Amino acid sequence: MTQTIAVIGGTGNEGPGLALRWARSGSYQVIIGSRQLEKAQRVADELNARLGSETIHGMTNPEAAAAADLAVLTVPYNAHAATLESIRAGVHGKILVDVTVPLQPPKVSRVYIPPGGSAAIEAQTLLGEAVRVVAAFQNVSATHLSDPDRPIECDVLVCGDDKEAKIEVIALAEAAGLRGLDAGPLANAVVIEGLTAVLIGINIRYKVKAAGIKITGLEQE
Ligand SMILES: NC(=O)c1ccc[n+]([C@@H]2O[C@H](COP(=O)([O-])OP(=O)(O)OC[C@H]3O[C@@H](n4cnc5c(N)ncnc54)[C@H](OP(=O)(O)O)[C@@H]3O)[C@@H](O)[C@H]2O)c1
Repeated sequence: MTQTIAVIGGTGNEGPGLALRWARSGSYQVIIGSRQLEKAQRVADELNARLGSETIHGMTNPEAAAAADLAVLTVPYNAHAATLESIRAGVHGKILVDVTVPLQPPKVSRVYIPPGGSAAIEAQTLLGEAVRVVAAFQNVSATHLSDPDRPIECDVLVCGDDKEAKIEVIALAEAAGLRGLDAGPLANAVVIEGLTAVLIGINIRYKVKAAGIKITGLEQE
């Protein structure tokens, strides 16, 4: 059975590229979530026009979470807790993939560790044990995601406390044209989230748009 993914806050920079790649893979149904139904439907229509199909739907965030098998959260950190509250009922018993990077504008190139330890741990604490939170995709730039034909020089480091959930998220990375790697327990998400602030600084200093990370040494010699 095809899985349905809800991209919560999927109307911004990061969400639409992921949604487009997952829909295009043919392996997933995709729902764009927003605080506003019309905005979600508009972005879904735009993505469908690019795909030449009607496979992506738009819903409010709570409806999207409830209708999906798995939810992916792509909102700014200052909207993190409120958005999680709004989808809490819908994600009960499901996997929540947290893409959120805790940043404190304007110092977006400085690592910020939030009070709960990391955005992903805060999500797990807020949602409780009935939801398997997996942290992933924080290091992948929206700039490259938005062109589905573009190969992306960035690995997806996947952190979580449930092995089966991590396997599902690694499959999501592969469906989006990326390599997903098991990066250990959810406690490790603080490092992956922090790396994004480092990459933003590299983008600024080297005048590029989408610095990424690659893990080396995985191939057998
Ligand atoms: N952009 C990147 O290249 C990139 C790369 C890696 C990781 N990330 C991380 O991914 C997350 C999303 O990034 P983004 O660039 O896509 O963010 P964004 O475009 O600023 O926001 C995404 C969506 O979040 C919702 N939102 C924004 N402010 C909100 C608020 N105050 N309250 C509730 N909802 C709000 C909006 O959806 P509605 O108005 O439709 O509700 C918006 O379209 C962030 O945590 C970011 O750090 C981004």
